[in-house]
Amino acid sequence: MTQIPNQRHLFDIPDDVAYFNTATMGPMTKAAVEAGQKGLARKLHPWTIPDTEFFADTERLRPLLAELIGADTDGIAFSPSVSYSLATAARNLPLSKGQEILLLEDQFPSNVYTWRQLAKETGATIRTIGAHDNETLSDALLGAIGPQTGLVACANVRWTDGAGMDLIAIGKRCREVGAALVLDLTQSCGALAFDVKDVQPDFVAVAAYKWLLAPYATGFFYVAPQHRNGTPLEQNWITREGSSNFARLIDYTDNYGPGAQRFDMGERSNFALLPAFESAIRTILDWGVANIQETLGARNATLAGKLEAIGLDCPPASVRGAHYLCPHLPDSVPADLTARLKEDGIYVSRRGDRLRITQHLFTSDADVEHFIARLAHHLNA
Ligand SMILES: Cc1ncc(COP(=O)(O)O)c(C=O)c1O
Repeated sequence: MTQIPNQRHLFDIPDDVAYFNTATMGPMTKAAVEAGQKGLARKLHPWTIPDTEFFADTERLRPLLAELIGADTDGIAFSPSVSYSLATAARNLPLSKGQEILLLEDQFPSNVYTWRQLAKETGATIRTIGAHDNETLSDALLGAIGPQTGLVACANVRWTDGAGMDLIAIGKRCREVGAALVLDLTQSCGALAFDVKDVQPDFVAVAAYKWLLAPYATGFFYVAPQHRNGTPLEQNWITREGSSNFARLIDYTDNYGPGAQRFDMGERSNFALLPAFESAIRTILDWGVANIQETLGARNATLAGKLEAIGLDCPPASVRGAHYLCPHLPDSVPADLTARLKEDGIYVSRRGDRLRITQHLFTSDADVEHFIARLAHHLNA
């Protein structure tokens, strides 16, 4: 693993903007935007788009997405959102009355409403897990998994505070009790190393517009081999066997293309978004996810020290994602803290009583110094 030098030159972030909000919306690189603009411009001259273009982008991108999570290419489907992916997972996970669906306290809403609906339809019950006393959230979830568990739906890090989950242990426990495991890796994919072979989840949902620095409404869905004969949400022409033969599309068939392709979203061949999506993923893979993790972890360790020096405690690195820093705010903090910081050119989120600080490789040392100085000023004002 190597430390990656600052990559600000790849982005269009002015010197007077200090952006600590990747967890809300990752900026795209200039190259990815250019690729997207070229892709969109193809529609100026649709007669120049060959039929093969309906397949070329997805064929190039699918193995790259698989590489991000250590999956086989056949396990990847294209999905526009986490909610779309989770709805597909829910459709393919039979639960019965009396079984429990385990969720984390304060989990992202798309990863809650889906399961409320499934509980309503099946008679399963939802149990929400929080950490008590000195236990970690991960241990609390591990301890709750038992013979009554039908499904565990969680993340690698909690979106509000970065609490880290031991997914290898959780995956193992799920297999011991025969529970399904569904993961939303939106807040970690591209920033924390992850391998489906270690965790063996049933399904993984990823929205790519945050840590993968890709356009909004791009993402992917991993499907474990045992679910690849399942039922997709939609019945689309392109996911069917032989769909590349446009002259014969009305030879209707019940057969799908290979692997998880049956789960691909309708109009997956998005000529504008896919080139930008591919450019973003190539950049992440060029940097290397393990190197990104290492670099952001080291930068956050330094930042945590500076936050502590101005009186803000961050959870230790052992219980949070390396890329996430969420210090507790004192009760005295101004209600409009993030608005005040924005006036200083500093962009950061607040979630409840925590500040959510998510820097990336574009964050400079000058950004950090400016942030700490202005934060100290507002906390003491
Ligand atoms: C953990 C997590 N999952 C998913 C999403 C996005 O969900 P969806 O793609 O359903 O809009 C977000 C956005 O903030 C998120 O933080």
